[in-house]
This record gives sequence, structure tokens and C-alpha cells, in this order.
Amino acid sequence: MAIQVFKPKYRTEEVLEEIRECLEIGWTGLGFKTERLEEEWKKYTNFSNAHFVASNTVGLQIALKVLKDVNKWKNGDEVITTPLTFVSSNHSILYNNLKPVFADVDDQLCLDPKSVESLITRKTKAVMFVGIGGNIGQYKAIKELCDKHGLKLILDAAHMAGTKVINSYHGSIFTTDHIGLDADVSIFSFQSVKNMPTADGGMICFKNKDYDVLARKLSWLGIDKDTFNRTNSKGSYKWDYDVIDLGFKAHGNSVMASMGLVALKYLDEDNSRRREICKIYDKGFENNPLVTPIQHNSECESSRHLYQIKVPNRNEVMEYLNANEIYPGVHYKDNTQYEMYSYAQGTCPNAHKASEEVISLPLHMFLTEEDAEKVIKTIIKATKR
Ligand SMILES: Cc1ncc(COP(=O)(O)O)c(C=O)c1O
Repeated sequence: MAIQVFKPKYRTEEVLEEIRECLEIGWTGLGFKTERLEEEWKKYTNFSNAHFVASNTVGLQIALKVLKDVNKWKNGDEVITTPLTFVSSNHSILYNNLKPVFADVDDQLCLDPKSVESLITRKTKAVMFVGIGGNIGQYKAIKELCDKHGLKLILDAAHMAGTKVINSYHGSIFTTDHIGLDADVSIFSFQSVKNMPTADGGMICFKNKDYDVLARKLSWLGIDKDTFNRTNSKGSYKWDYDVIDLGFKAHGNSVMASMGLVALKYLDEDNSRRREICKIYDKGFENNPLVTPIQHNSECESSRHLYQIKVPNRNEVMEYLNANEIYPGVHYKDNTQYEMYSYAQGTCPNAHKASEEVISLPLHMFLTEEDAEKVIKTIIKATKR
């Protein structure tokens, strides 16, 4: 059987039970289960605000609009970002008429604080950090930089559902915090191949309550009262509302939230299985001079959305794997190679080199130990060819 890079696992019966409730009470839209998912997510993570939306992409777009409008940023103001990401991160900056300024990445494929600091100008308003594969990389140093220069920190946490930062050890016991609590805003993805899939979906988690209130209105076309709360409130004039801004139709719905409520219950268990598979891969490539696994910062318990390696002959290795029915992924092509971001070509040599060498190995709940061993053996053969 072919071995794919991703294969989501749904607890079908439990999900159907959650969805059945929506169908029986006749409420599949915003409200009902979306509010429950937001509450459960807040309990799990300790974020004080969480708003469930249709995708991480639209979540990033709205988060940036809120930050821009409230803080009175101007068109053309700059957000420092990474070229090694899915285009959503950088499109969200452009959707808001801001300018993506590309900084280079470190060995962990996350933003390099030195490169970020060298790019700060009077126009810089924020830094967009992407926790690639669930890794925190040098997030802490980036947070310090943002504090020092008065910049907002936006965390594209698309891969980071369940990533915990390790605070302190007491013998073998340690305490953790969910990643992103100290960012101005963290945006998660629950898209179909992510660690907590709801078919599509995302969560915007603002530190500031007022920003969360505004984001809710913007995800519902700028309308100041949502239909669920209007329907369930008492009194006359339930039908009346105001429209305060040019918002989007971008909120999540109760069917997606039903999937999320079940997936959240299994998130820690699934992530710990992911880390076990990563250990098998780590062992398989130990001391191999031709295969460089991307390390995740030991100060985090990573969600391990990805297990990435670098190999010098990446394209040949990919072809050889495909010929053996193994279908890994590439995360990501250097965004400055895309026509629309080509103004920054050549500015991020580490990201560019990594994007030519990187492979994401199969990593999901259906992957067996034998599958992982087969992947390792095939890669080792391919690198020697
Ligand atoms: C780093 C990163 N950012 C943003 C996104 C966009 O997420 P969504 O599909 O939920 O819009 C993805 C999805 O693949 C991603 O990998």
C-alpha cells in the first residue's frame, strides 16, 4: 500500500453523534457548537480569547485587519515574515495593503532573530512567526525583539495545535504552557490534514479582548450581533442590528465545530503518537552524513505536524521514493521564488537552500512502525545513488 505524507484520522461514530445534535435541534451555523468549541479550546490552551473561523487563512487576514485598523497602521507599512511558509501567511499581509518583508530562517527553518532585527525600520509594525511543523524555533528571542522594538507579534500557528512550551523541570516533572499565549495574536489551522482537523477551520486567539470582539464582527460581515444570540435572546427588536465595517463571511459553523470537539479530545494522544514516530525516524538517521533531520527546539513539546529532513539530492530522492510508492511532501518552496513575491528573490539564502533540500516524511496516525522503517531504508538507499 502506498504511504502518504498525511492521512487524517476521524473518530467517525463520535463525530456523527456530535453532528446529529446539530441536525436534530436544527442549528448547523454560527453559535451552538462553535461557542462550545471555543470554550473547550480556551480550557485546553488557557487562551483568554478564541474565535472559530472558516480557515487559518481568513483568520490571519482578519487578525491583521484588526491590528492595522486599531493601531492606525498605514498602507505600505511593513510586516517582517518568512519565505518558508504556505502562501497564506504572506497573502494575509498583502490582503491588508501592508508589505511583506522577508527575513531569513535558521537551521530549524524558523525566523532567525538576527535577520529579523537587521530589517526593522520606522515602517515595521509587526513580525509574523511561523512555527513550522509545530516547532517553536527561536520564538522566545523573536518575542523579546518585538517587545524591545514595540512591534506586534503575530503567530501563524497553523501547525501548532497542541505545541507546549516547557517552563521548568522539577526532577522528571515539568510544567508547560500552550504556545502563543504571549503573542498579540495566534492563529491555528484545523484544515483537513492538520493535527486537529475539522475539514476546514481556524482559531483566532487575541490577547486583547477588544480585538477579539472586533474580529467576531469582521468574520460576520461587520454585523454587530450574531444570529444565534439574537435568536436566543429575549425581547423585541431581536431582528435589529447595525453594520459597523466591511467584514467578511468567514466564521466557522457548528458542523465543523462538531468535528473539532471530538478531535480536540484526542489531540494530546495523537500528538504523542506523532512524537513516537519521530523518534523512530531520528534513530534511523542517527549519524547519517547524508540525511539531516530538522531538530525541534528541546524547550518545547512539539505537536510534530511535520518530520522534515534535508538531503542534498532532494529531487532524485523524491522521485525514488515515489517509484517505491512513498509520497512525502515539501514544506515549503521559498516564497520569493513565486512571481508575486519575486521582488525579494535572493534576500534569504538559508531559506532558499533549505527549500531545495527539504522533504516532509509521512507522519500520521495510520503510519505503522514497519512503514516508518521502510521510509528510512528507502531514503538511505536513495541518498547513496
Ligand atoms: C504555515 C501555514 N499557514 C497557513 C496555512 C493556511 O491554513 P488554512 O488551510 O486553514 O487556511 C497553512 C495550511 O496549510 C500553513 O501550513
